[in-house]
Amino acid sequence: MTSPHATAVAHPNLALIKYWGKRDHDLVLPCTGSLSLTLDVFPTRTSVRLDPELTNDRLILNEEEVTGNALERVRSFLDIVRERSGQAAYAHVESRNSVPTGAGLASSASGFAALATAASSAYGLPTDSTALSRLARRGSGSACRSVIADLAVWHAGDGEGHAADATSYAEQVPGPRLAMVIAVVSAAQKSISSRVAMKLTAESSPFFDGWVSGTTADLDDMQTALTAGDYTRVGELTESNALRMHAAINGTRPAIRYLAPTSVALFDAAAELREDGLEVYATADAGPNVAILCREDDLERTRAAFAVRFPDLDLIAARSGPGAYLTEGE
Ligand code: DP6
Repeated sequence: MTSPHATAVAHPNLALIKYWGKRDHDLVLPCTGSLSLTLDVFPTRTSVRLDPELTNDRLILNEEEVTGNALERVRSFLDIVRERSGQAAYAHVESRNSVPTGAGLASSASGFAALATAASSAYGLPTDSTALSRLARRGSGSACRSVIADLAVWHAGDGEGHAADATSYAEQVPGPRLAMVIAVVSAAQKSISSRVAMKLTAESSPFFDGWVSGTTADLDDMQTALTAGDYTRVGELTESNALRMHAAINGTRPAIRYLAPTSVALFDAAAELREDGLEVYATADAGPNVAILCREDDLERTRAAFAVRFPDLDLIAARSGPGAYLTEGE
């Protein structure tokens, strides 16, 4: 008899309204809701195989055995799965990631979305998108949005504790056809992880409260703009919300700054192109890379415009992508 196993694929997402700050670190409950576009590039493929012989989980990432903190994070995630499923067996986890890990291109989002999906299937937990999104959230907050295709809103959740845990998940929202060009300013591991930096921002940035109230309003406005198909408003909110997040981060002591001179130049180029009639907007996560938001029909033109201005940068064209899904066999 073969042991229970499953394989799943998930893609990264990039937030138009950012998640930055937790109100519950253990349950990974955010201070605000957020909203993102799941992309069709850089899939993560993860297999989970239960093995009653193992005395700990094993993690193979891109064909290399991983120990230390990364294994610990996967193990505590699978502990939640084991507790819920009543199955105590440890697992072999094999994951293949095509996005440069830790480079601010959301590898933890695709990683935990794929792991939640494969592990739920292998351990016999529910695999509906709400259950998977809630579970993926426990691995990495933004991962709950990678469970969902295209545009996904992550609800902050009602109240605290169990009630909030049950209501904090992502679901799809309608909107115009969007795409992004990702400008890879640096593929190096970032100096300080999102997890650590968002905690420091909440603890020490005097701008954090303003960030939370502003983002709550931005999320409402964004959903209205998406429903109305108002691309201009979607773009303005995207760029402004990202800069507000970076402003809050910059206010941390000791100071944290993710944007590099080239990142700022990319924001400037987006503004110049808008003047010239190509309606693009910039956003950046916790790292120097910049994603340029555009209408899907403008994707090639946008990539070409940035290639002329930034000939040395890797420019990745991405469209809206699928939610996490199980594949047949290994
Ligand atoms: C800047 O989801 O990586 O990309 O929940 O601590 O694992 P943890 O954080 P993570 O943070 C992502 C932050 C962001 C913005 C976003 O994706 O919304």
